[in-house]
Amino acid sequence: MMQIGIDKMGLFTPNTYLDLVMLANARGVDPDKFTIGIGQDQMAIAPLSQDSVTMGVNAALDLLDGENRDNISLLVLGTESGIDQSKAGALYIQRLLGLQNARAFEIKEACYGATAGLMTAYDYVTAHPDQKALVIGSDIARYGLETPGEVTQGAGAVAMLVSAQPRLMVLEPQTTVHSADVQDFWRPNYSKEAFARGKYSTEQYIDFFQKTWADYRNTTDRTIADFKALCFHLPYTKMGLKALRTILPEATEAQQADLLARYQESTLYSRQIGNIYTGSLYLGLMSLLEQSQQLQAGDRIGLFSYGSGAISEFFTAILQPNFETQLAAQKHADLLAKRQQLTMAEYETQFQTELPEDGSAFEIDLTVDPSPVVLTRMKEHERIYEVLTQAVKP
Ligand code: HMG
Repeated sequence: MMQIGIDKMGLFTPNTYLDLVMLANARGVDPDKFTIGIGQDQMAIAPLSQDSVTMGVNAALDLLDGENRDNISLLVLGTESGIDQSKAGALYIQRLLGLQNARAFEIKEACYGATAGLMTAYDYVTAHPDQKALVIGSDIARYGLETPGEVTQGAGAVAMLVSAQPRLMVLEPQTTVHSADVQDFWRPNYSKEAFARGKYSTEQYIDFFQKTWADYRNTTDRTIADFKALCFHLPYTKMGLKALRTILPEATEAQQADLLARYQESTLYSRQIGNIYTGSLYLGLMSLLEQSQQLQAGDRIGLFSYGSGAISEFFTAILQPNFETQLAAQKHADLLAKRQQLTMAEYETQFQTELPEDGSAFEIDLTVDPSPVVLTRMKEHERIYEVLTQAVKP
């Protein structure tokens, strides 16, 4: 049978971050609340030169080569930080990556957007096995200064190349979905910051997890014993843990310890980057694959996607022989290690500085941003992007 899945994954996060102990001290909060209670150490802060388009391109750069470039005929950008109400960010991304004539579009359903893209790509490649799909989740999470959500902000993107006979992981066809109209988190068109009913959103997340997990167990003959690891959408790293704990009693004691250890490995990148909305589940997956020494080909990994509003999907993947060769742990360690720490004043200024909305010309300061692809300026209501590296060869 033709097998479809993820061949390779790419990651990008901006070059600046805020230390959350510093944030706790500035806000008069016990730092343990942030580092233990919420489970976050740092959060990425996007400079003006990074948006959902540039971060998506920067994440996808490593996935392209001379061989696959011509076969990518579907390009989906999942984002809730879109830069335009009409034109899809995917079209800028297609040009900046030197791709052509793809079904390129943007898709929105809160943090579920990249999963919607992945499932669409799965169906597309099933129907066209000689073609490939590029799925990107790219977001800047903003709740506002001095809000309860402030500590759960972040910025970054994940890109996934979906193909037949994938070298990283095969996606299995059985998935379960739960969706309902729920007002837990939203961002009206006129607002740059999200509104969240914090406690309610965490309850909905757990409820949706339990429903999709129960459906999965009832519609397949699988149990928790069939899983080597479970990855969760990670708005903050304590959130997935709360959900995981609700089903741990279904496992033996030894397996509980293993699942908890794998869970911790899946949270290492998110702890330093924060919530990247659409990419967060896949950031957790990359962290697990690159940081765990316990995984083997043939292992089954469960993935729980949650997008406020709300929709959840539980799906599974099987690691492929030599999957390690498709990973880039050192590159991602460097990406994180080279970041600059912001002071509170720099963070607050960066947070409050906005691009002009009146059509005036504006040059963006690029001195803090060494990324290959950047937003350089605004001109007559247009964003002008530039590729500053030879890494992109159209
Ligand atoms: P809060 O109300 O300030 O925090 O906001 P809290 O009082 O609930 O405390 C948090 C935890 O810290 C608690 O642990 C405390 O006990 C603990 P828990 O009971 O939850 O296990 N704590 C301490 N621990 C150690 N030492 C201490 C200490 N003090 C307290 N001294 C909240 C927390 C997450 C609600 C807030 O940050 C928020 O509103 N965030 C945004 C919403 C969010 O992330 N929701 C998650 C579920 S919805 C989702 O995942 C979708 C989303 O990604 C969007 C999308 O789909 O697009 C958000």
